[in-house]
Amino acid sequence: MKYFKYIVCILSIIITIGTLKAQTREVITLKKGWTFKKGNHPEAIKSNFDDSQWEQVTVPHDWAIYGPFDKDIDKQVVAIEQNGEEVATEKTGRTGALPYIGEAWYRYKFSLPNFNSNKKVLILFEGAMSQPEVFINGKKVGEWKYGYAYFYFDITDFISTTQVNTLAVKLTNLGESSRWYPGAGLYRNVSIIIKNKECIDQWGTFITTPLITKDIAQVNIKTKVSGKNLRIVTTIFDADGNKVNSNETTELFDNKFEQNIAINNPKLWSPESPYLYTAVSKLYIGNDLKDEITKPFGIRQIEYSQKTGFSLNGKTTKFKGVCLHHDLGPLGAAVNKSALRRQLRILKDMGCNAIRSSHNMTSLEQLELCDEMGFMFLAESFDEWAKPKVKNGYNLYFDAYAEKDVVNLVRATRNHPCIVMWSAGNEVPDQWGSEGVKRAKWLQNIFHREDPTRPVTVGMDQVKNTMESGFGALLDVPGLNYRLHLYDEAYKKFPQGFILGSETASTVSSRGIYKFPVEKGSMKTYDDFQSSSYDLEYCSWSNLPDDDFALQDDKPWVIGEFVWTGFDYLGEPTPYDEAWPSRSSYFGINDLAGLPKDRYYLYRSRWNTKEETLHILPHWNWEGRKGQKTPVFVYTSYDSAELFLNGKSLGVQKKNNNTKQNRYRLMWMDVKYEPGTLKVVAFDKNGNPVSEKEIKTAGKPHQIILEPDVTSIKANGEDLCYITVSVVDKNGIPCPTATNQLTFKVKGEGSFRAACNGDATSLELFHLPTMKLFSGKLVVLIQSTEDAGDIELTVSGKGLKKGHITLKSIK
Ligand code: GAL
Repeated sequence: MKYFKYIVCILSIIITIGTLKAQTREVITLKKGWTFKKGNHPEAIKSNFDDSQWEQVTVPHDWAIYGPFDKDIDKQVVAIEQNGEEVATEKTGRTGALPYIGEAWYRYKFSLPNFNSNKKVLILFEGAMSQPEVFINGKKVGEWKYGYAYFYFDITDFISTTQVNTLAVKLTNLGESSRWYPGAGLYRNVSIIIKNKECIDQWGTFITTPLITKDIAQVNIKTKVSGKNLRIVTTIFDADGNKVNSNETTELFDNKFEQNIAINNPKLWSPESPYLYTAVSKLYIGNDLKDEITKPFGIRQIEYSQKTGFSLNGKTTKFKGVCLHHDLGPLGAAVNKSALRRQLRILKDMGCNAIRSSHNMTSLEQLELCDEMGFMFLAESFDEWAKPKVKNGYNLYFDAYAEKDVVNLVRATRNHPCIVMWSAGNEVPDQWGSEGVKRAKWLQNIFHREDPTRPVTVGMDQVKNTMESGFGALLDVPGLNYRLHLYDEAYKKFPQGFILGSETASTVSSRGIYKFPVEKGSMKTYDDFQSSSYDLEYCSWSNLPDDDFALQDDKPWVIGEFVWTGFDYLGEPTPYDEAWPSRSSYFGINDLAGLPKDRYYLYRSRWNTKEETLHILPHWNWEGRKGQKTPVFVYTSYDSAELFLNGKSLGVQKKNNNTKQNRYRLMWMDVKYEPGTLKVVAFDKNGNPVSEKEIKTAGKPHQIILEPDVTSIKANGEDLCYITVSVVDKNGIPCPTATNQLTFKVKGEGSFRAACNGDATSLELFHLPTMKLFSGKLVVLIQSTEDAGDIELTVSGKGLKKGHITLKSIK
């Protein structure tokens, strides 16, 4: 039986490509069938190398996420200068304490029986962590450096049509190469593209909408091609698939076709209404179809001006944005579209309208989803230029690669309507010195050359310095990271007439953890390595959400903000950079599992203008605090509310201008704890009660509750369901402090993929089917198989009534 399985595996990994439509292109994403091994294996480039003992993996793959966590991994003895540190200390979890360092190899076999001399083949990597070296049939095809870059090689001259081809990829990760968890391996898609020699070039399409009125939009499509005697026909379809208009031309300039197509009564793209059209371009010689490309696009107008700040489709719009790192918590860096979709659903409900991909190229999946779901996008490129932040960071490659990386970023993503701004860098130490000013100009010019339609920013933290050097003045959009006290001065000194909060807040908190006394504090630490969820703790360089709100409300020239961060991420466990076992961030509005912290409701109360928010904190299970001051905060879209403890009124609070917190939160500071029911009644502008919420003190954990984020998933082997697991007492009241150890069993057409509880100090491994609850909750991820059917999840824990659900996986 074992032997039979083995044969099946070997046969299945030789993928035959080139069997589809003989005429046009084929794009094959290489997912299943890879083999993988850590270490250096130079002999693996050979076709006859025996990799039968190597691990079989599916790409996207992150080799480091399976752990184990280890304090010594990438222990960095450094002073973090951008955090104002002067003395080097030992930073343990800075890059997540997961084993990403070292070399590793991937191999993949494929055959191309129908290949002929009229065709060409490209291999495309949407990111490879890092320093990829690519070999085919024993020969080196090329290499890249930056782990986040998109790149491709023409491999036509390397492939065999008669024998099985062997692709081998070597990756190398150096220690001290990152300030956060970078992930490791082929963590994004790798594709082979086969097309005719007469074709549309890779990333050769550029769609813009230079003219938009109520009645008509002009769609300009430039298409770079290879070949002679070509004719192109481009047809535009609306979102329902109806043909809108088309254009045909044979006029080539410098290998580029340019077409202008009119759309009557255009439907505009916006976060509220993310309407997408599709352009299908067909390339012919005579009547022979040579190539065909389909590109979704949106019609939208962006403008940045002194008068209106940022406007979208003619309407002044503020960025209600969040910064995101690329990791997906328990999945590590391995990209997964349904994990990204879930994040965006959570952010949408919060009222967020924009994302900043800090501090590098985002996944193409993320951009597709932002187009479809309606998020504006600030597409960033680098965290370092020529001057280092970490010893082995991008500074090693900047001179040789920066232009190529920017060019590929722009060409690969410029048709996404969601992208409304580029960022050439984040807090680069090159803000110091005249070389840095030149680099800023040079990079901005490259962005402009590649895309004249979008402005460029840099997230600046050395604001004083950039005011003097001219660095800030030359940027299209001056982006300030924190430094609220310099906004006014920057507005006066910079010529642009508006300021972007390119990075804001960096407030720290742990979901469901509250510390007493309740007071504001910078870089506060506690023995349990958690931060208080009263949302009053921040870093020495940062501030509280309310401070940013006030700036945006009071200064029309602040065009919005990108909060650090939407979700917790692996690594950078400030304020516990030196405290083991802290290994992930505390900055997230949502925790590493994607569960909302209290702060989520603070942003929601302001950003989600369509639905009400009424949220009480802290939880009400404070054994041992009877009679002690236990302040109660309410985050709400209403202006005032009355609080009741066990039916007794504790008075009405109204938002006011006494402090920034009073302006945006309702706070009852003198509540004395007694167990029971805490109830809040919110009032409308006329003082009428309109809504209420209550929370109750829970008894002992009794039963496990499972709440899936979706009820069915796609049977494609990739789709995920996130099930929130919590426990309730015998009366059904949620137990907010429960820490029970739980185990997970999955049956049917799905598998257990990972679990995460959002505890930044937990060393439990995400891929093992057991985990402790943190503040009464955790999340289980179930992945579909390729077969439709039922999936059953059972969650059990000692002394608890089990939780059980059945999900549907459908084709
Ligand atoms: C910023 C930086 C981010 C992150 C953040 C933490 O200065 O751009 O990458 O380190 O601080 O507050």
